[in-house]
Amino acid sequence: MNELQEIVTFEELRIARASLPEPVGFVPTMGFLHEGHLSLVKRACEQSASVVVSIFVNPTQFAPTDDLDAYPRDLERDRELLREAGVDLLWIPTPEEMYPPGFQTWVEAEKITKPLEGAKRPGHFRGVTTVVAKLFNAVQPQMAFFGQKDAQQVAVIRRMVRDLNMPIEIVASPIIRERDGLAMSSRNTYLNEAERQAASVLYKSLLAAQSAYKKGERSADSLRRVMEGIITDEPLARLEYISCADYDSLEELTVVSGKTLLSLAVYLGRTRLIDNLVFG
Ligand code: PAF
Repeated sequence: MNELQEIVTFEELRIARASLPEPVGFVPTMGFLHEGHLSLVKRACEQSASVVVSIFVNPTQFAPTDDLDAYPRDLERDRELLREAGVDLLWIPTPEEMYPPGFQTWVEAEKITKPLEGAKRPGHFRGVTTVVAKLFNAVQPQMAFFGQKDAQQVAVIRRMVRDLNMPIEIVASPIIRERDGLAMSSRNTYLNEAERQAASVLYKSLLAAQSAYKKGERSADSLRRVMEGIITDEPLARLEYISCADYDSLEELTVVSGKTLLSLAVYLGRTRLIDNLVFG
């Protein structure tokens, strides 16, 4: 089995990083790893000569009302999974070192963080870009791996990497789905049986819009309406947003021409689920 080296401080990372074979692949996480994370790690191991994983529950991307201490953690299990997966370096920075006293330097992408998830979670993406920029700066990977499930996060990080001229390839790994198409998420466990059955409606609506697109529909409004119709037909589902946007800028489209991101957020009972699909 692989030797998993574990480090905490930025200085330890700098020293360990110097002897890692290149290219280095990096998977930033907040821990409590699930199949989605492991698929990113697997891909990183396949595509890189060495792999660094960070576990850091980033306080600045949570709302002040969120209970940070309630965020699930299981370091023992995470360690074991990463060792089995063949990761070389596990970095678990402390909040004190990540955000030293008097911290006031932020990395913020503007327009792209305003719609969709950004509209519901003000300040969230500022926390994400700041911590990811700090992690990238320290790890200096050639490639970094993110899940396509958080499509806006991927788009925002790609924007940041372009804007700050970071020589890092952002690799987005496909969404891992249950048999009925429901995107895997730790939140799925909050669904009761009826909600769990109804939850496949998100993917069904995306597939229906994709099928309309394949048949030649190019009006973004029509594609949104196709999705909306399917969600509103499901009595347990409450729609929060539906989007048909440009894949890179996340600007809402009138006519679909290039690479397009269909995305939506839906409540089933008290559980908020998101999903998306890319085409074009
Ligand atoms: O997707 C996540 O787990 C987090 O947003 C990330 C990228 C690790 C930054 O804290």
